[in-house]
Amino acid sequence: MFTQTPARDLADHYDRMASNYDKFHRRWLRHAGGEAQAALEALVRALITTDTDLLDAGCGTGTLARTLIAEGMSPAKMTLLDPSDAMLARCSDIPAVQVKGRLESLPFEDAKFDIVTCAWALETVPHPNLALKELCRVVRPGGVLCLAFCANFPARGLADGLMRQALLWRGSGQFLSHGHVIHTLENAGEFVVRSVPSTGPAATLLAKRKEKIGTTSIAV
Ligand SMILES: C[S@@+](CC[C@H](N)C(=O)[O-])C[C@H]1O[C@@H](n2cnc3c(N)ncnc32)[C@H](O)[C@@H]1O
Repeated sequence: MFTQTPARDLADHYDRMASNYDKFHRRWLRHAGGEAQAALEALVRALITTDTDLLDAGCGTGTLARTLIAEGMSPAKMTLLDPSDAMLARCSDIPAVQVKGRLESLPFEDAKFDIVTCAWALETVPHPNLALKELCRVVRPGGVLCLAFCANFPARGLADGLMRQALLWRGSGQFLSHGHVIHTLENAGEFVVRSVPSTGPAATLLAKRKEKIGTTSIAV
């Protein structure tokens, strides 16, 4: 189960660290999460079309959105969601729909998006099961959920291990059980899950919603 997840809501924490976030996050990507981030971006790149409605949930400072826009995706079909005003303020130059909200209660109708991305945010919420249920709910039948998160894999070396300790010390997230996230998504009944292999304490998952719609059954 998700026993190590933060017990408290971290939106305030991210409000305070917004001005330094990109610097810390670049370090995390360089030493630990870069492969998982590259895999997530490659998945989205492979799946996206000009008509794709995309939600980036827990968008932070808009790193993923900026990358996709630089590669030609129209921001007009993009929705960015985050609970932190300060993080959202750093996205103000991105001409996409911006919504203040939480993963655990997404303010969107069922099956609204073709692609839902969630990078490094699932591990920051107190109730990841509820967040997964909500993320699944807003994916349209035939659409996909792409996740990158800090996972409970062994560290690869000193830098990777130190990054993990720094993240735990700052209290900005935890390391989720990879198996439990997969199990939770598969148990929802409507998703076929693929894990993208990478090394280090991070994981990338692609969960494709089957075409036939029903009710997701993730227990919260
Ligand atoms: C580690 S950052 C990741 C940001 C971005 N996705 C990226 O790749 O750089 C975690 C983000 O999750 C947001 N967050 C914290 N609690 C959240 C919640 N309950 N629902 C949605 N996002 C949340 C934080 O405000 C922060 O922007």
